[in-house]
Amino acid sequence: MYLRRFSLDDAVAYAKAYSDVTVMKFIGDGTWVRPAEEVHEVIAEYQKTYVSHPDLGYWAIIDRDSDQLIGDAGLSPLIQTGEIEVGYLLRKDFWGKGLATELVGALLKHAIESLGIAQVVAVIDPRNLNSIAVVKKCGMREGEPGVYHNRDSLKYLFP
Ligand SMILES: CC(C)(COP(=O)(O)OP(=O)(O)OC[C@H]1O[C@@H](n2cnc3c(N)ncnc32)[C@H](O)[C@@H]1OP(=O)(O)O)[C@@H](O)C(=O)NCCC(=O)NCCS
Repeated sequence: MYLRRFSLDDAVAYAKAYSDVTVMKFIGDGTWVRPAEEVHEVIAEYQKTYVSHPDLGYWAIIDRDSDQLIGDAGLSPLIQTGEIEVGYLLRKDFWGKGLATELVGALLKHAIESLGIAQVVAVIDPRNLNSIAVVKKCGMREGEPGVYHNRDSLKYLFP
């Protein structure tokens, strides 16, 4: 896999993840899923952050073997606190292959070592056991729970 910035041409491929209610169930407050014809608007928002925060934002995940866009991952300021949050989602047919663990590990390393960010957080719905397993495997530790993106969330910190 590698990450690159989104372009509006990615909308059809990205909809395979962003328009899937199963993938989107625990993203944001649970209402962020969008019909395929609106996914270009999500990408346009990401493109604004490439300008306002050139080191941060959400990037497309590209599978090197098939050259397909298989999800998104990124670092962005958490709205409520300004802390840097790691976020990620994958198309369902790419779950269970260890990809998220590899991605989150690489993003944490990049944030700390290349961007000089002191601490990265992840906020996760307590029912999202997959995602909790991922952040634990990446060495994130549990902090104080709270309400983030309008939902009761666990918070994980690195370091
Ligand atoms: C969360 C997500 C990115 C994980 O991707 P993934 O590539 O399947 O994750 P990995 O394969 O790296 O690891 C998943 C781990 O969860 C574990 N897991 C899966 N289902 C589980 C369950 N019900 N209970 C506990 N652990 C579970 C897997 O066993 C695996 O751990 P292991 O490698 O030790 O066996 C993917 O499920 C996804 O896109 N979900 C929807 C979007 C989302 O919720 N994003 C995170 C928001 S905080």
